[in-house]
Amino acid sequence: MADGKTLSRRDAIKGVIAAGAVSSAGYLFRAPSVGAQVSAPGSVERLITLTVNGQQRRVDVMKQETLATTLRYKLGLTGTKLGCDRSECGACTVLLDDVPHYSCSVLTHTARGKKIQSIEGLAAADGTLHPVQQGVVEEQGFQCAFCMSGFIMATVGYLKVNPSPTRAELAHGISGNLCRCQDYDKILTSLMRGAELSRRA
Ligand code: FES
Ligand code: FES
Repeated sequence: MADGKTLSRRDAIKGVIAAGAVSSAGYLFRAPSVGAQVSAPGSVERLITLTVNGQQRRVDVMKQETLATTLRYKLGLTGTKLGCDRSECGACTVLLDDVPHYSCSVLTHTARGKKIQSIEGLAAADGTLHPVQQGVVEEQGFQCAFCMSGFIMATVGYLKVNPSPTRAELAHGISGNLCRCQDYDKILTSLMRGAELSRRA
């Protein structure tokens, strides 16, 4: 390998290491002496606190990072699925302040100060399933179930604004969620059962 190429690769590695050192300084050192570096134009604080499923979670988040990425790969909450990763399928649905959102299209930094709820936060502390989860268990509405957590979260969110939907209303309310196995009739039956159990709870 020519010297020029060797040097440029080495330089690139040095650059990456240097960039990591500067970005990590943002949360490792908060003394005024490094303040000028930390508050560079366009920079954001990377170590932030999120409220996830009722817990305060400290996490290192890049400014362009999506909430789905943070939940799955930083916090280990893999119940939130990534299907399309571009706001089309709803597999990544979570609740932000009780409203369903596609977490693949929410920047994590914008979720600061909000109540984030994922599928892992639905069951009670003693393991009792949320009524919508119970409805799915009873009616066995999903085939591969990849889309299931998104449908459940969308339904839980929808029932907060319409606790007694007709089948058509619920179908419309969760129409932002898609299922590749396409057994929508059974899915709706399960979720309507969940709505019924929610009213009784
Ligand atoms: S993965 Fe987010 S909408 Fe499909
Ligand atoms: S049950 Fe397979 S994608 Fe929905």
